[in-house]
Amino acid sequence: MKILMTASEAVPFVKTGGLADAVSSLSAALAALGHEVRIVIPRYYGIDRKKLTKLEGAMGVPVGSGEEWCAVYTTRLPGTSGKKSSAENPVTVYFIDHEGFFGRDGIYGSHAEPDFLDNPRRFSFFCRSCFQLCRKIHWYPDVLHAHDWPAALVPVFLKYGERRGVSSEEGSFANTVSVLTIHNLGYQGIYSKDNFSCTGLGWDVFYDAGFDDWNMMNLLKAGINSAGRLNTVSPNYARETLTQAQGFRLDGPLNSRRADYSGILNGIDTVVWNPQTDKYLPAPYSAKDLGGKARAKAALQRRFGLKESAGLPLIGMIGRLAEQKGIGELFGPSYGSAWSICRDMDLQFAFLGSGEIWAENEVRSLASRLSNFKAHIGYSEEISHLIEGGADFFLMPSRYEPCGLNQMYSLAYGTLPIVRNTGGLADTVANYNQETGEGTGFMFDDLTPSAIYNTVGWAVWAWYNKPEDILAMRIRGMKQDFSWKKSAKQYLELYKSAGA
Ligand code: ADP
Ligand code: GLC
Repeated sequence: MKILMTASEAVPFVKTGGLADAVSSLSAALAALGHEVRIVIPRYYGIDRKKLTKLEGAMGVPVGSGEEWCAVYTTRLPGTSGKKSSAENPVTVYFIDHEGFFGRDGIYGSHAEPDFLDNPRRFSFFCRSCFQLCRKIHWYPDVLHAHDWPAALVPVFLKYGERRGVSSEEGSFANTVSVLTIHNLGYQGIYSKDNFSCTGLGWDVFYDAGFDDWNMMNLLKAGINSAGRLNTVSPNYARETLTQAQGFRLDGPLNSRRADYSGILNGIDTVVWNPQTDKYLPAPYSAKDLGGKARAKAALQRRFGLKESAGLPLIGMIGRLAEQKGIGELFGPSYGSAWSICRDMDLQFAFLGSGEIWAENEVRSLASRLSNFKAHIGYSEEISHLIEGGADFFLMPSRYEPCGLNQMYSLAYGTLPIVRNTGGLADTVANYNQETGEGTGFMFDDLTPSAIYNTVGWAVWAWYNKPEDILAMRIRGMKQDFSWKKSAKQYLELYKSAGA
């Protein structure tokens, strides 16, 4: 099958969250199964042109009633699966290079301008460029697989124009189907409908495709209505998003596409996230021999300036400081639970992340007041691996979580997740049963500071009182299979059901 992934992020080129991991690792997994997979993303300012190969000639892309010109660069996706079959069947990545749209600092926005004003124009251009790219390289995919709102216009363009009629000897999109994957319903791309003209679509399509959203234009909603098939990144989140409580106002459109909508759990890149081969850990380890994990813990404590102690439970946390992640309940000034957790309990806490300014300030303030709470504000691949390897517990009190990758990394590293019972967290973590010793982590239902406090307290209690259960849970988690094997096959089924 020929598959073109269209997305705004893909590791190792550009990443703000798990979307980037999912796009690249799914592509590699499909390629390893023998499929021809290509990826197209914008060439952002931070992606060095010198490391890429330029395709000959400029490419014109319709924008509104006019046209914008761009260049296209290409490279191979570095072997993410490491398997022979994937190396033999590499994934080609294309970069759409337009200085005006993407030659700036920031992917979706900057600190000063969190959501760039011209985003509808930037991503409309990008979505249209995916079709022009196929024409340019004379390669027409069986499946156009779009990810999240920045690529949501791809299925719309396919349905309302690109597929219709146009046919040439070289090929066309006549038999191409589209799939839209929702990685996060919280981000929909809602803009003033004054921007609609940049899509070049007629106002009949505005209403037909359901762009209309309380007099605004909603890109994800139009994608949901137009894609051949839809899915999100865990079965549980798929169910949740069909409810009014968690449907982010799109439960209606999703329910009307219910028969075409499913949940497929993300896999993880088991080469990059593997404690037996992780280059950032001081020593490798496995479920059979956890010796290296103790060394990783000592290294993490040193790195964060925490007291070196094997006996103190160490809680790690990594991620975007965004409302989605439960940061209000954890770090909210005067009511968040992090302060009392660290003040009352015999434990250590290591945080890595960045995001909302108030939360960054609060995290800094906690670190200045508590000797057992340390933080690194920023992004660091290296430290994230050290936390996954060195921590005993991993905290993820998400308000909602479509899939979540960190809890799976944690399980693979023998680090017990403490998570809210929501979305993909509920699909991947099994709650501890202190009677039987079963489970792989600790879970709570309500997102309140006291529920976080109590559940961390429960985990710390088990640490001191049930060490044999903690060890058994670690090993149980590490033995689970979080690779893409199963999910990549489910995506193939989805493509087939769309008509590919
Ligand atoms: P989301 O996509 O909602 O942010 P996920 O759990 O799916 O959540 O994925 C987040 C990804 O980003 C993980 O791979 C995580 O390790 C990584 N990540 C997030 N913040 C940081 C950071 N500050 N430094 C390094 N990696 C980070
Ligand atoms: C989103 C979600 C996260 C998911 C990731 C990859 O960013 O917030 O839960 O794991 O996409 O699909």
